[in-house]
Amino acid sequence: MTKQKPYMVRVNLHLSYVLLLIYFLFWVLINTTKADDIGVYWGQNSDEGTLANTCESRKYSYVNIAFLTTFGNGETPVLNLEGHCNPSSKGCTGLSLDIKSCQKQGIKVMLSIGGVSSTSQLTSSKDAKNVSDYLWNNFLGGKSSSRPLGDAVLDGIEFNPGDNGYSIYWMDLARYLKSNSTQNVSIGAAPQCPLVSAENSTFSSGYFDYLSVQFYNNPPCNFVSSSTSGFINAWHQWSNLKVKKIFLGLPASSDEAASGYIPANLLNSQVLPIIRNSSNYGGIMLWDRYSDVKSRYSDSIKFDTGDQASTPAERNKTHTEGKTPIPVESIKPHAGNGKRHLGEQTTTSG
Ligand SMILES: *[C@@H]1O[C@H](CO)[C@@H](O)[C@H](O)[C@H]1NC(C)=O
Ligand SMILES: *[C@@H]1O[C@H](CO)[C@@H](O)[C@H](O)[C@H]1NC(C)=O
Ligand SMILES: *[C@@H]1O[C@H](CO)[C@@H](O)[C@H](O)[C@H]1NC(C)=O
Ligand SMILES: *[C@@H]1O[C@H](CO)[C@@H](O)[C@H](O)[C@H]1NC(C)=O
Ligand SMILES: *[C@@H]1O[C@H](CO)[C@@H](O)[C@H](O)[C@H]1NC(C)=O
Ligand SMILES: *[C@@H]1O[C@H](CO)[C@@H](O)[C@H](O)[C@H]1NC(C)=O
Repeated sequence: MTKQKPYMVRVNLHLSYVLLLIYFLFWVLINTTKADDIGVYWGQNSDEGTLANTCESRKYSYVNIAFLTTFGNGETPVLNLEGHCNPSSKGCTGLSLDIKSCQKQGIKVMLSIGGVSSTSQLTSSKDAKNVSDYLWNNFLGGKSSSRPLGDAVLDGIEFNPGDNGYSIYWMDLARYLKSNSTQNVSIGAAPQCPLVSAENSTFSSGYFDYLSVQFYNNPPCNFVSSSTSGFINAWHQWSNLKVKKIFLGLPASSDEAASGYIPANLLNSQVLPIIRNSSNYGGIMLWDRYSDVKSRYSDSIKFDTGDQASTPAERNKTHTEGKTPIPVESIKPHAGNGKRHLGEQTTTSG
């Protein structure tokens, strides 16, 4: 009997530790609900490293495989991954291993369809259904003998139609892809800024999990620190749409954009405070992995979350770099303040 008292005390002590732990985990959960995700495009430059490396860098929560350049209108679909591998000889099925390893780390892997050089368009609702079936069977939960990336099931599809823009058939494609509710297919789109009213109903349809809006090479929307109203108005137009998440689409280096490149210190001090204020703000989407490897732009992004950082890269960095708003990477010689000229031709984004 006398032995029981200290034992009870210990149990109570353990219980309070457990409660404290539960409280702490809950607090972490609440405090990390702000998205602050970084996404990146992978696939258009073989010097950017493998998909597995891209995910292992722990910088990104979304990786968009770029691009399925041809689809729709009765055409045979074409996946283009530049020098990485050749889909036409089934050379890309090994990517399944990379995709699965990315997903195991909690990273969403999407297929981006279109791209700046793509001329494909959806010609009717029926065409959209046919493309939906193709995507479902070849990249998502369906089955096909020709799956270009092997048996891995991607998390979703990002719509990225070159200059053709978004007709209402893109809304149909989103609806068809979403129609299998047992498979949780994410749908994204990468529209150009500014928002044109013809595309408003497509994006307001409620089918889109995220929009990654291209705010560069689009002077009315580009961020200019001496006059921020164009940027702010455009951002609010997008963030007021019925879309779960809005990403700010940016080039990872000045070489990737004719205009609209935002140096990381400006992004941190002036742009993030504006966009992080929106309830459906999702984070930053970068073009592309190749540029980010060279410029290390994503390493310089500082979400001002106090001690609670929410992207993998931020979590990794919190204790080593603290809250310094000055991008540490940009003063290292190889980064050249993001202004270096590589003398190498890279593909530019749509
Ligand atoms: C449907 O899509 C396939 C590619 O999956 C294509 O080969 C075929 O021509 C399309 N059919 C029609 C009627 O567009
Ligand atoms: C929907 O997804 C489930 C689970 O993957 C699958 O079993 C089913 O066949 C799919 N339905 C259609 C119509 O594709
Ligand atoms: C679908 O995925 C989203 C994003 O990952 C998640 O928030 C949601 O809970 C999922 N829904 C279902 C039904 O699994
Ligand atoms: C888009 O639609 C919303 C709601 O229907 C409307 O308030 C907004 O002005 C529209 N924007 C454009 C650019 O047409
Ligand atoms: C963020 O929103 C709050 C509340 O609406 C507002 O007071 C503040 O000025 C906003 N900050 C920025 C940087 O837009
Ligand atoms: C994470 O931290 C390790 C050890 O400091 C470092 O080697 C790695 O590059 C970091 N990764 C990112 C994404 O910051």
